[in-house]
Amino acid sequence: MRSHAVAVVGLGVISRYYLAALEASPTARLAAVCDRDDAALSPWRDRLPVPAYRDHRELLAAHPSLDGVVVTVPNDAHAAVCADFLRAGVPVCVEKPLALTDEQGAELVALAEVSGTPLFTAFHRRHNTAVTALAARLPSGVPIARVTVRYFERIEEHVGPDRWYLDPARCGGGCVADNGPNAFDLVRLLLGEVTVEGARIRYDEAGLDRQAEIDLRAASGDARATVELDWSYPGELKDVEVVLADGSVHHADMLAGHQGFKASLWHEYEAVLAAFATRLSGPFRPDPGGAAALALVAATYRLARTVSDEPPSHEPPSHEPPSDEPVLEELLLDEALPVGPEPTEAAPC
Ligand SMILES: NC(=O)c1ccc[n+]([C@@H]2O[C@H](COP(=O)([O-])OP(=O)(O)OC[C@H]3O[C@@H](n4cnc5c(N)ncnc54)[C@H](O)[C@@H]3O)[C@@H](O)[C@H]2O)c1
Repeated sequence: MRSHAVAVVGLGVISRYYLAALEASPTARLAAVCDRDDAALSPWRDRLPVPAYRDHRELLAAHPSLDGVVVTVPNDAHAAVCADFLRAGVPVCVEKPLALTDEQGAELVALAEVSGTPLFTAFHRRHNTAVTALAARLPSGVPIARVTVRYFERIEEHVGPDRWYLDPARCGGGCVADNGPNAFDLVRLLLGEVTVEGARIRYDEAGLDRQAEIDLRAASGDARATVELDWSYPGELKDVEVVLADGSVHHADMLAGHQGFKASLWHEYEAVLAAFATRLSGPFRPDPGGAAALALVAATYRLARTVSDEPPSHEPPSHEPPSDEPVLEELLLDEALPVGPEPTEAAPC
């Protein structure tokens, strides 16, 4: 029985992965949709029994006892839409970034906590099968020395008709604000809490951060991490490299085996929805990931040095060939993986 009635607010690019996941879900079903744009809404007008709304407040008024809502509107609309649903006691699954600023994020977290209403930030990459396989094959007794996450794409290939990604006021910045959260979440998954030690950002003529390298350090232990972001990359490259204290190198290519543009997203969003659905019953569990990622974004902008030299050449990392190790289902947990004891050695870099 698909008992959880879930609405989707924002019917753009990423919504199609949630809608497919809802279609396939054994526990959740689509109850209503909303988009402020008539063109996005029109295919739904004839698709009763799923009612369609232009304003999320209208949807909320008509469906006060929704079991959950998925918020996939542009970044600048997250805070207001999420706050309205949280105030009404409706559990929220919101796309990353949780909000535009860490202050907005803290307000949403406080709203969720005071009412005991789940607020879940969707970090789809932690559900990527190459990432879960990588985590599964890390030996438990060897600390992680270094993690490198690379997130390269050409942002113009990802923008829809509304070019909000290219407007720092609506996006929250550029590659750091938008892709940073997914990359930081992968670092947190492997290392637990981290702090930003330094960063270098390249801006384009329009003031948009296009490239960034961020140095992070594990809050406990000596492990280091680097996040490399590029919004001007010809094509797409998204991977994770882990160097262990014994010198062994482990790699996950998040796009390998998924033919086609955004093809890996189908399986990742099925897992995102499943993770959200586990929060729709049982006791309230806080989800610290969204606010933690926002804090790392804010620290990056605060500490970054602006660089104007040639962009990085993006040498390919040394890594092992892809592994066929089994997928670690337990990775759908909320917090960092218990990968071995606390890291104790500095990165051999
Ligand atoms: N596109 C991706 O690959 C991708 C990947 C991961 C996360 N995300 C995140 O998903 C979110 C949505 O991104 P997208 O690429 O789908 O954007 P999009 O521009 O394709 O779609 C956003 C939709 O929301 C609608 N909308 C805007 N304001 C609204 C409001 N107040 N109420 C109702 N509808 C509203 C727009 O009309 C549009 O149809 C963003 O937070 C983004 O960072 C996107």
